[in-house]
Amino acid sequence: MLSPKSVQSWLSTSPIFQDISRSNVVYGNFQGHGINILSSILILIITYYVIPTLFEFLFSPLGKVPGPFWARFSRWWEYRRVANGRSNLEYIRWHKKYGPVVRVGPNRYSISRPEDVKIVYDISSKFTKTDYYKPLSHPDPDQQSVFTLQDNEMHKNRRRKVSALYSMSTMVSYEEAVDKMTTVCVRKLHQFSEEKRLVAIPHFMQYYAFDVIGEITFNKSFGMMEKEGDTTGLIPDIRSGNDALGYLGVIPDIVPWVYGLRSLVGILPKAQVLNNYAITQINQHRQANSGFKKGARKYETFVTKVLNMEAEGRMTEPNMRDVCGANIGAGSDTTAITLSAALYYLFTNTEKLEKLRQEIDANTKEGRVSDPLTFQEAQGLPYLQAVIKETLRMHPAVGAILPRKVPKGGCHLAGYYFPEGAEVGANSWVLHYSRDIYGPDPEHFRPERWIGEEKTSIMDSMMFAFGGGSKTCLGKNISLLEMTKALPQIIRKFDMVLEHPEKPVPTRCAWFVYPEYNGWFKARDSSA
Ligand code: HEM
Ligand SMILES: *[C@@H]1O[C@H](CO)[C@@H](O)[C@H](O)[C@H]1NC(C)=O
Ligand SMILES: *[C@@H]1O[C@H](CO)[C@@H](O)[C@H](O)[C@H]1NC(C)=O
Repeated sequence: MLSPKSVQSWLSTSPIFQDISRSNVVYGNFQGHGINILSSILILIITYYVIPTLFEFLFSPLGKVPGPFWARFSRWWEYRRVANGRSNLEYIRWHKKYGPVVRVGPNRYSISRPEDVKIVYDISSKFTKTDYYKPLSHPDPDQQSVFTLQDNEMHKNRRRKVSALYSMSTMVSYEEAVDKMTTVCVRKLHQFSEEKRLVAIPHFMQYYAFDVIGEITFNKSFGMMEKEGDTTGLIPDIRSGNDALGYLGVIPDIVPWVYGLRSLVGILPKAQVLNNYAITQINQHRQANSGFKKGARKYETFVTKVLNMEAEGRMTEPNMRDVCGANIGAGSDTTAITLSAALYYLFTNTEKLEKLRQEIDANTKEGRVSDPLTFQEAQGLPYLQAVIKETLRMHPAVGAILPRKVPKGGCHLAGYYFPEGAEVGANSWVLHYSRDIYGPDPEHFRPERWIGEEKTSIMDSMMFAFGGGSKTCLGKNISLLEMTKALPQIIRKFDMVLEHPEKPVPTRCAWFVYPEYNGWFKARDSSA
């Protein structure tokens, strides 16, 4: 089935391994270790995959779950689909073909029925995160991030410590930071408009998202919009980390080998640039606040809230680094992708765009919203809210299955019994394009579906852009704050013309689904 030659030939065509040989900075240069790696990989494959797979095929109650033929035999099959960069769409296709549960790899299953999704992602469910998260996890549990913690108790405790930083009532304290950066964004777009510059919109949105989250977290923009580029090295560092999650997450047994080899040749672990940045910022702020006494100073930004908690003995250094780092690491690509998708959908659906503009302009005239809108004012604009929801539905930033391990006692899903330890999960793209949930036209951008009678509770409960259950996105409110404030400012002041309006937007999916497109911004004559 797998000859060394075939392994070799597709290793050389797989993006992650190309990255390894291309980039000395992040991965180091692996050339010359090729033979050792390959024979180790083969031994691993036989021990961990071939033998258990045969066993499962012959004896497991799940032997009959349908799925692509080769998926039964090796996780590498799914890995290859992920490496092709279109896995978000492949999962949709498989569910159309095979039904509500699909075997995507040995002991790995994708589910799509709302009742099954509810079981796995129930707020008090005993399902745990699987080894999929290993590519981003730290060997020392104290250093482990909230995102990669697999143990449910540890995760719950960690989240409890930090949840106040992300609550709705805390959002007001971050508004000024968002406004400051939105002003820079609008100024840059005016400049692009005057210079008639073609803009790589997802890239610019990434600079915006970085600057905002930097300002919110450390009271310090990265200055990326201003410089029109990433001078920190953070973007490739974070991207390679997230890509590694998408690629290696489906074959986690190989992670210690890949990372072990990397450290042998002296390469820093993933996201080290980000870690170092977070430590430096925390220390700088800690020094500036060294005279801190409770109540002596009004703390506003994220890092000062965190330092405040440290002073009260409610947080330790690794937690602080985790939570600040997570803001930057999890909060920039996601928000940038969603904003880019929103602009794309609005400017390719001008009728919806006009409707949104009318809502904003009418409310502005009547003095009900300001310039920029406050977060609270934005809550009162139903069409704006529907546009954001519809964008999150049509282009959820995470394109991967969020896998969970079946707990003791097993469970019943889609008519099958899943024993303890099976890996099951849902993919937001599959759920969001389901006709059973969203009606006959899920491939159309139609914010109206979120308004009035049409909207059902099942639609809301199957919105999976931020994940589900006890591990839903911590930064959801921050991201909504950013998006509901930035989007109206851009569309009330600018028109945008796509470079290739006739072509569908290419995307690349590993963990995140990155869109790629260019456009020209043009200042509107009557900036309302
Ligand atoms: C549109 C924007 C965003 C989307 C679509 C999004 C999506 C997600 C998803 C799907 C998860 C769950 C992953 C899983 O179950 O494996 C998640 C977790 C997380 N997100 Fe977000 N996110 C966004 C913005 C943000 C922002 C702005 C922040 C920080 C300020 C953030 C911080 C986090 C953290 C810390 C977790 C881990 C939570 C935990 O494990 O308990 N996210 N996000
Ligand atoms: C975001 O705000 C909502 C509404 O107030 C709240 O229920 C939720 O817990 C908040 N999310 C987080 C992650 O704190
Ligand atoms: C944030 O930075 C500005 C200078 O850029 C400073 O004036 C202000 O005091 C800082 N705020 C906090 C809470 O650290």
